[in-house]
Amino acid sequence: MRLPETILVVGGSGGIGSALCNRLHDDGHTVIATSRRPAVQGKAGAAYQVALDLQSSHLRADINGILDRFPEISTVIHCAGQNRLAGSADLSDAALDQMLTVNLRSAMTVGAIVGERFKARGHGTLVYIGSMLGHIGVPGYSAYCASKFGLRGYAEALRRELHHHGIEVLTVSPRTTRTAMNSETAIQLNEQLGNHADTAEYVAGRIVSAWEKSRARSPIGWPERLFAWLNSNFPFLVDKALSRQASTVESHLISGESH
Ligand SMILES: NC(=O)c1ccc[n+]([C@@H]2O[C@H](COP(=O)([O-])OP(=O)(O)OC[C@H]3O[C@@H](n4cnc5c(N)ncnc54)[C@H](OP(=O)(O)O)[C@@H]3O)[C@@H](O)[C@H]2O)c1
Repeated sequence: MRLPETILVVGGSGGIGSALCNRLHDDGHTVIATSRRPAVQGKAGAAYQVALDLQSSHLRADINGILDRFPEISTVIHCAGQNRLAGSADLSDAALDQMLTVNLRSAMTVGAIVGERFKARGHGTLVYIGSMLGHIGVPGYSAYCASKFGLRGYAEALRRELHHHGIEVLTVSPRTTRTAMNSETAIQLNEQLGNHADTAEYVAGRIVSAWEKSRARSPIGWPERLFAWLNSNFPFLVDKALSRQASTVESHLISGESH
């Protein structure tokens, strides 16, 4: 276990985020959790709950404000995200912007600001919550996959950029997890396809373990990890397997504007 630290969890109000805050709190860490409406946030092990809108035009200033207020922060976990099951043609520009901004652009802004702060002190850890959909492109999630593939590339480059400054950049990639992020339709589709769903508490435990062991990449789930490997090395095999699911997915696609 790591010695007690002050940890910023961006997206600490979500299913995985609040399980993570609880776990870190139970392990003796001081947790600062952000979300858009911290006043209405439910239970969480966070000592401090701070408002932060990742789509804000003054995001840089807001993040700097949090780091000025809590200079002892030594780990930042980006655990915010948005997703919706929809055909690629059903997502408006606004819906695309929203997903890319929260899932990718905000992670890059956090990385740039926190990286400079940690560089100045010579240590620190940044953890990004990616997704197995950042390893495998699947129908119905094209925009989400684009954001998570992008996040994985960004985190890998940032890791290599900052490592010699004593800064760790880690990525944890969960598979489907039972949280409010997945709509009823998405849950039904997963059940029909036989995809396993983890609990948020299990995923939170895996994030903490990856952080404690400074593991650069932590894809979660079997056979998802095998599929990710196959997709990198023999993508035509995964094309074949997923094409068999295409009509089932299509029957579940709903307009991205409807929720
Ligand atoms: N659930 C899954 O199946 C799954 C699988 C793989 C990876 N992941 C990843 O795990 C992470 C956590 O997901 P989750 O399942 O816990 O989702 P969730 O329950 O829907 O929580 C999403 C979190 O993101 C925050 N957020 C969304 N839009 C925001 C914005 N504009 N500004 C500030 N915060 C915003 C939410 O805060 P508000 O209170 O402000 O809404 C909330 O804290 C995400 O990166 C997700 O992509 C999830």
